[in-house]
Amino acid sequence: MTRRLLVTPALPYANGHIHLGHLVEYLQTDIWVRFQRMRGSQVLFVCADDTHGTAIMMRARQEGRTPEAVIADMSLAHQRDFADFQIEFDHYGSTHSEENRLLCERIWKAIDDAGLVTEREVTQLFDPKEGVFLADRFVKGGCPRCKSPDQYGDSCERCGATYAPAELIEPRSTLSGVAPEVRQASHLFVQLEQLHGFLQEWTQQGGHLQPEIANYLAGHFLSEPLRDWDVSRPAPYFGFEIPGHPGHYWYVWFDAPIGYVASTWQWCKQNGASLESYWESGDVEIVHFIGKDIVYFHTLFWPAMLKTAGMSLPSRVQVHGFLTVNGEKMSKSRGTFVLARTFLEHLDPAYLRYFYASKLGTRPDDLDLNLDELVQKVNSDLVGKVVNLASRSAKFVGEGTLSAEYPDDEGLFAAAAEQGEEIARAYESCDYARAMRLVMSLADRANEYVDRRQPWVLAKDPARASELRDVCTVVLNLYRQLVVYLAPVLPKLTSDSERLLGAPLRAWEASKSPLLGTPVARFEHLLQRVDPSKVAAMIESSRAAQTADSAPAPAPSSADDGAALEAEPLAGPCTIDDFAKVDLRVARVVRAEAVPEAKKLLKLTLSLGGGSQRTVFAGIKAAYAPEALVGRLVVVVANLAPRKMKFGVSEGMVIAAGPGETDVFLLAPDSGAKPGQRVH
Ligand code: MSP
Ligand code: ZN
Repeated sequence: MTRRLLVTPALPYANGHIHLGHLVEYLQTDIWVRFQRMRGSQVLFVCADDTHGTAIMMRARQEGRTPEAVIADMSLAHQRDFADFQIEFDHYGSTHSEENRLLCERIWKAIDDAGLVTEREVTQLFDPKEGVFLADRFVKGGCPRCKSPDQYGDSCERCGATYAPAELIEPRSTLSGVAPEVRQASHLFVQLEQLHGFLQEWTQQGGHLQPEIANYLAGHFLSEPLRDWDVSRPAPYFGFEIPGHPGHYWYVWFDAPIGYVASTWQWCKQNGASLESYWESGDVEIVHFIGKDIVYFHTLFWPAMLKTAGMSLPSRVQVHGFLTVNGEKMSKSRGTFVLARTFLEHLDPAYLRYFYASKLGTRPDDLDLNLDELVQKVNSDLVGKVVNLASRSAKFVGEGTLSAEYPDDEGLFAAAAEQGEEIARAYESCDYARAMRLVMSLADRANEYVDRRQPWVLAKDPARASELRDVCTVVLNLYRQLVVYLAPVLPKLTSDSERLLGAPLRAWEASKSPLLGTPVARFEHLLQRVDPSKVAAMIESSRAAQTADSAPAPAPSSADDGAALEAEPLAGPCTIDDFAKVDLRVARVVRAEAVPEAKKLLKLTLSLGGGSQRTVFAGIKAAYAPEALVGRLVVVVANLAPRKMKFGVSEGMVIAAGPGETDVFLLAPDSGAKPGQRVH
């Protein structure tokens, strides 16, 4: 019987663009789906934007638009990014849809009918300026334990303490910068503990989860009574209002996973299929791919909701780790916070598809995108080993045909065909790294064959034409086998190779028998080597984009918001003429204030003499208290083009030296200097 699968990645938030971290997941999922289809499974692959919550509401306010307009734009941007990375969904929906509202109501009713809902007062911080209740991540202040400044409302990044936002020292709203008020509001809760037994069994038995995840849940959540889940938020909130509770909305994490069902439903409507067959029958395997940060939503809350509503449970929740770049958290100031779009502007998406595949294993471990390694891996594996097979043989067939009978190849084709099952097992278990290793070792053997048989030598001797054709027939068939095995990862190389060989490559079965007697098309370039200077350009433009970032981004992101003040390798040469263009002036700091939303920024008002003043943002908050700067002389790049930053326009740059963080030294000339004076 045909295996039927419904596969989803997590639904990306509509308040930000897709970046290389997200792509770990969307590529991992797309590869799995392509693999399953090649094996003959019937797969429905759906996704949607996750649109609700305070962050979207605030972004819309700041942009003077409706939340609907904001999410419509972002949905298009997300879909373009995915399509250009060859991530092909059958349907891309939105949690802000009528289908989702109806499903939320239905599932909510089931939960309510089961007696799981309870109501109680909650103390929450409220931003009186913006008129909204603040989620923990929208409050910052000093850690109540270790006293480090600028920590989020739920936990300290410095010492790891967890606490309530009201416990912060001098808490501030990250939205408006004002001190929040403590307010009471009534919230609805789901009493998860009533499903403890079910969740214990579902998470620990049946192989739905990786062992690391099952153990984590057993140790962190299931070993004690499950806490009630707070599922409502008082107005104002962008979301769905809860029937019977005017002024109360479902918390975004209630309606977000229901978005999986809503998106399926939209696809079903458009394709004359029944939703029940996906979410209420046992004959479809539901597989969710998620990151490790959202495990408990998918392995505790979500199964509890589905179970209570009498719907199908996921067969498998596959968890991956987080991306680091060059060994560190993605950083805007280092230029390693790279958007999907920026990558596409500089590099071929196939590079990232292959690189991630070569790194992803079965465990939810973090993975590192080392950019030098990416260059090296793609160039040596894909270009040097795989594509090279085709380029070293196809040209000698010269738009002729392959041999009619498969020549003796020392057993290479048969051995590689047999390896197919092992490679398939690796894909099935999401051990793509192993699949890639197996494929590359087959490629090594094929290249050894080419080196032994030296088609370029045979080509010089017309008497050996048929031997040459036989050798090329072997090499192209070995190449074809490798492309079949790589097809889930490299869809573009696959379709280009289909054109070259005039035969489909999208069934796993195609690896089992050689192609014979068929015409070979003219060889056209299949894959460019990675040019390291383009990688550098991508990083440079990511770095530049953060200072020019005009997008109001009230939502805290996991990346830092620092300015570019850190120790860095020397840049390329700058001529004396280049340098002469830089107009350095002495300036006096007239005013200095912290930018509450930014970790590292101070807003400086500078006097350049003669009554001229300007605003400059400098990433030196960790090094200088604002009051310590007032009255001091600094050196400023006076003719720097103004830059629009998140928090205003910066009209210059203050010169400083030092390794960064607290060790930054403003180079103020001695007291004889006058504001406005040129510095040479
Ligand atoms: N909207 C929620 C998911 C709702 S699912 C019902 C969400 N969105 S997200 O945009 O923040 O993340 C989407 C997915 O990308 C998540 O699975 C998340 O773990 C993953 N990643 C986001 N940043 C990531 C990295 N830096 N590295 C790896 N995966 C990351 O969570
Ligand atoms: Zn702390």
